[in-house]
Amino acid sequence: MKEHIHQLLEQCVTNLIAAGVVPADVAPRIQVDNTKDKAHGDLATNLAMLLAKPAGKNPRELAQMIIDALPDSERVAKVEIAGPGFINFYLDSQWLARQVQALAADPRLGVKVAIPAQTIVVDYSAPNVAKEMAVHHIRSTVIGDAATRTLEFLGHTVIRANHVGDWGTQFGMLIAYLEKMENEHASDMELADLEAFYREAKKHYDEDEAFAERARGYVVKLQGGDEYCRTMWKKLVDLTMAQNQRIYDRLNVSLSAKDVMGESLYNPMLPQIVSDLQAKGMAVEDDGALVVYLDEYKGKDGETMGVIIRKKDGGYLYTTTDIACAKYRVETLGADRVLYFIDSRQHQHLMQAWTIARKAGYVPEQVSLEHAAFGMMLGKDGKPFKTRSGGTVKLAELLDEAEQRARDLMASRNSDLAADEQAAVVHAVAMGAIKYADLSKNRTTDYIFDWDNMLAFEGNTAPYLQYAYTRIQSIFRRAGADARPGAVVLDAPAEEALAQKLMQFNDAVQAVAAKGMPHLMCTYLYELSGLFMTFYEACPINKDGVSAELKASRLTLCDATAKVLRQGLDLLGIQVLERM
Ligand code: ARG
Repeated sequence: MKEHIHQLLEQCVTNLIAAGVVPADVAPRIQVDNTKDKAHGDLATNLAMLLAKPAGKNPRELAQMIIDALPDSERVAKVEIAGPGFINFYLDSQWLARQVQALAADPRLGVKVAIPAQTIVVDYSAPNVAKEMAVHHIRSTVIGDAATRTLEFLGHTVIRANHVGDWGTQFGMLIAYLEKMENEHASDMELADLEAFYREAKKHYDEDEAFAERARGYVVKLQGGDEYCRTMWKKLVDLTMAQNQRIYDRLNVSLSAKDVMGESLYNPMLPQIVSDLQAKGMAVEDDGALVVYLDEYKGKDGETMGVIIRKKDGGYLYTTTDIACAKYRVETLGADRVLYFIDSRQHQHLMQAWTIARKAGYVPEQVSLEHAAFGMMLGKDGKPFKTRSGGTVKLAELLDEAEQRARDLMASRNSDLAADEQAAVVHAVAMGAIKYADLSKNRTTDYIFDWDNMLAFEGNTAPYLQYAYTRIQSIFRRAGADARPGAVVLDAPAEEALAQKLMQFNDAVQAVAAKGMPHLMCTYLYELSGLFMTFYEACPINKDGVSAELKASRLTLCDATAKVLRQGLDLLGIQVLERM
């Protein structure tokens, strides 16, 4: 609605300029705000105060001229001047009532499909092979997944790109160690503990010269496409990704094996890219290495910064891979837009890779490459989140703890649900809480991981929203089978406020998609739930004395709220329950 009033005012300014009331060179920053007190209308603007001086009029006088020049709108019931020259808008509650009714009946809940639909690649999760997912991987994984779901809901073609770290010199030692394990106890090969596996491989590499020799040989063979090494490598990748898949499934993250586009995919493209950069005069030799100098990046000493794309020993780097990767996403995948959900500490790395890719002509100007950066996950002490002994927390263990805590919480609530229903609640609340804690913060900053906050049933948490949803379901159960949602009438201020919020769902979805910031959806859903609770207290539904019409109208508001909550949480990858 703000948008609509904004448009009316823009038109009005144009009219006033045409009429010579306002000089043609003023371009006021039109502002429309929610009023604090609904008795003074729904929206207000200070435009008359901004324009009074250039127009040489007093603000109240000008306010009246603005009102007179305002185009008619069926959505506005009344416009008034207030105080020194504010203009207050009273929205037409009948128009609003019709809109909410339509929203409740619309499967898309008022969310507009994107035109034109784009092909959007989303780079997210990206764990490393032969390592277990650590706690910090949750950020990229859940934020990226929420953005992916939102973009898909808008009708874009979304390509999930799980940029798994599946290439590098460490694979020589990993293959050698896998071989050793297979030789020693061929049948019970269990790589349950990948951390231990990696540690042991490294230990052998550092301490056993013959092993190290073999490992170095395997790196060369793997890169040369040797079949045995390739098979062993594939085993490591598959084992790791099978473990990660269990985490994705637990977290209700929409990634699967087909989305893996690891670093190895780009490896065969690197020699060609490097020689192309050389041919274009961008890459030059420097002490045996190949370097691209970028004027855009200056080191501390003010010198142009060089980005190494091939080492002296012929090896390629993480940056070389990301140059190839950007090229591939544009040329082969046909991306119009690429969103990278990566730790903010990798910003410079990405900027260098993209600057080179653009200069080389691999990524045209109209394709947008966006670093959806995020900060770190901190413990309550404000330091990076670690185990008590200072080690990295495994993501799987974090999820176990979340379920345990949710189970305890459930037990303390003396629920009368059946055991299997309780288990479903525990799972949905645990995963919801942990994801939402991450999703609800502006991703650009670090955030403090705090169990007590995220599992609270009060405040901006998943359990609060999930509970709001089940509460609406129970209203419907109590309303009885023959109670039907019906025509909406908006009389009480709480009803109007709720209806207006419901109409903003489209804005919230569009904002998440535009910025890759799911916290905007969280804030929206939290505000919506708050307004619902106020409405529910002020406007009885299942009480005696409520007329059938009023009950039907209020049930429509309940219905629309439940649907928006459910859809909004689904876009965040969070489940709702009928009871809890
Ligand atoms: N595997 C990397 C890591 O764990 C993240 C990869 C991000 N994606 C990319 N295109 N560089 O840090």
